[in-house]
Amino acid sequence: MTSLAARLAPESIKKLIPYQSARRIGGAGRLWLNANELEHGIHYATHTEDYNRYPDFLPHDIAVAYQNYCQTNVPAVAVRGADEAIDLLVRTFCKPGADKILISSPTYAMYEFCADAMAVETIDVPLKGKEFQLDVEGIIQNAPQAKIVFLCSPNNPTGNLLSRTDIISVLEGTQHDALVVIDEAYIEFELAETVIDLIATYPNLVVIRTLSKAFGLAAVRCGFILANEDIMEYVLKLIPPYPMPDCSAKIVLDALSAEGIDIALKSTSEVIKIKHTFIEAIKNNQWIEHIYPSSTNFVLIRTNSKAQLFNYLKENGVVTRNQSHEPALNNCVRITIGSPESMMEVAQLINQYSISSL
Ligand SMILES: Cc1ncc(COP(=O)(O)O)c(C=O)c1O
Repeated sequence: MTSLAARLAPESIKKLIPYQSARRIGGAGRLWLNANELEHGIHYATHTEDYNRYPDFLPHDIAVAYQNYCQTNVPAVAVRGADEAIDLLVRTFCKPGADKILISSPTYAMYEFCADAMAVETIDVPLKGKEFQLDVEGIIQNAPQAKIVFLCSPNNPTGNLLSRTDIISVLEGTQHDALVVIDEAYIEFELAETVIDLIATYPNLVVIRTLSKAFGLAAVRCGFILANEDIMEYVLKLIPPYPMPDCSAKIVLDALSAEGIDIALKSTSEVIKIKHTFIEAIKNNQWIEHIYPSSTNFVLIRTNSKAQLFNYLKENGVVTRNQSHEPALNNCVRITIGSPESMMEVAQLINQYSISSL
């Protein structure tokens, strides 16, 4: 007999496959290099005396600190991670069962997931070529059918930046039709390439950011939406009543102090160096077909055998992300850049690996 829950749940939720976050997939391992976190966190000592009170509605000091960090006057609002920003934007601007969003795959899966959850259709205009760049014409042609174009730069899982010229063409071509959301979760690894400055010229541009990556604060759950006042006015209608837990807010303020920013940017340069050393150490393996250029804290590797590298690393206690479910990323594994010791171990494992050993 059909359960009450099954009878009550809308079709869109019944069909929904839960988002496969690294934590939800779980597993066992020694080295966790599957969620693009900072392997060794920065320690923030903090306390709050006000656990009995609800936190601020929209912590103004955090918004100002983030604007200062970004050197912008564009309105900023803190939310519980960039994931909440994506969800909020879809719920604010898309009508369930009627509207569409546009993505360029392969990209971060949460855009489509949040749309599916709202019975909002996703149009995919795939990234082009080995460089995974935008199909600008295809996006502009399809954008009138979509309310939001979600683009990710640097892109997860491919690791590359999208061309600024292409982003500008998309903004020009869609300005009367759709919002263009640029997800800059990994921008600290190529900070000069931010498009926040374009918000002044293109009112349909929204930028989302996070402290989960370069700032090493994935557990704190803090992301940001940066957009013009008129977009913000609508987003703020739906924002949860208390979008930032007070204990998180205190840590975020420390992280966005001059000292906190300095620590995060130094740690980012360190990760970039470790990444280059790691790539040098593994690049001559005959079974590695391609290491994609990376503007992030992870590398995408195409091997010449499906899932073997992923399984081999897993058997050796190293948890990475298998990307083979994406047709364009067949045989690809994504590896987060961890500490020098971890990456040396992974490089040694990779160099010991031979296809015949499996
Ligand atoms: C491109 C991209 N956007 C957003 C997120 C989510 O970030 P947050 O931890 O702030 O929710 C991630 C996390 O992996 C990501 O890769």
